[in-house]
Amino acid sequence: MKRSYSTITFAALTAILLSGMVARAVPEPAPAPSDPARVARGKYLVSIMGCHDCHTPLKLGPRGPEPDMDRALTGHPEQLTMPPAPELPPEVVMGTRERYLQAYRKLTGKELNLG
Ligand code: HEC
Repeated sequence: MKRSYSTITFAALTAILLSGMVARAVPEPAPAPSDPARVARGKYLVSIMGCHDCHTPLKLGPRGPEPDMDRALTGHPEQLTMPPAPELPPEVVMGTRERYLQAYRKLTGKELNLG
């Protein structure tokens, strides 16, 4: 009895495998770009994978900066002028530099010449 179960299981798995290979060998026609199911799937993937984090500009909402969905996925607004980077005290710059050099030495076993 056990033997026939494993024979049936083997036959079933082989059939599944072969049907998958046949399905892959026959190319599917390209879906229409406006296929609503694919558009919805793309929207879902974009929302769960954080694409808006970098590709949607922020606006100031009642609770602080929030994605401006009127400009969803439009990227960085070219006209936006950022304030200059703040001046850092020299000890902070040198400390960061030293820690970077230490990490480089530790990770690579080499010295990094920053000039
Ligand atoms: C951490 C920030 C970040 C996230 C999150 C992010 N991107 Fe990007 N993406 C960038 C940057 C920066 C560039 C520009 C790279 C360059 O031009 O060198 C870029 C470029 C692109 C480009 C090429 C645009 C062009 O004009 O060539 C596409 C398409 C793109 N991203 C799609 C996506 C998608 C889809 C997602 C979500 C799955 C996503 N990005 C998530 C930062 C991000």
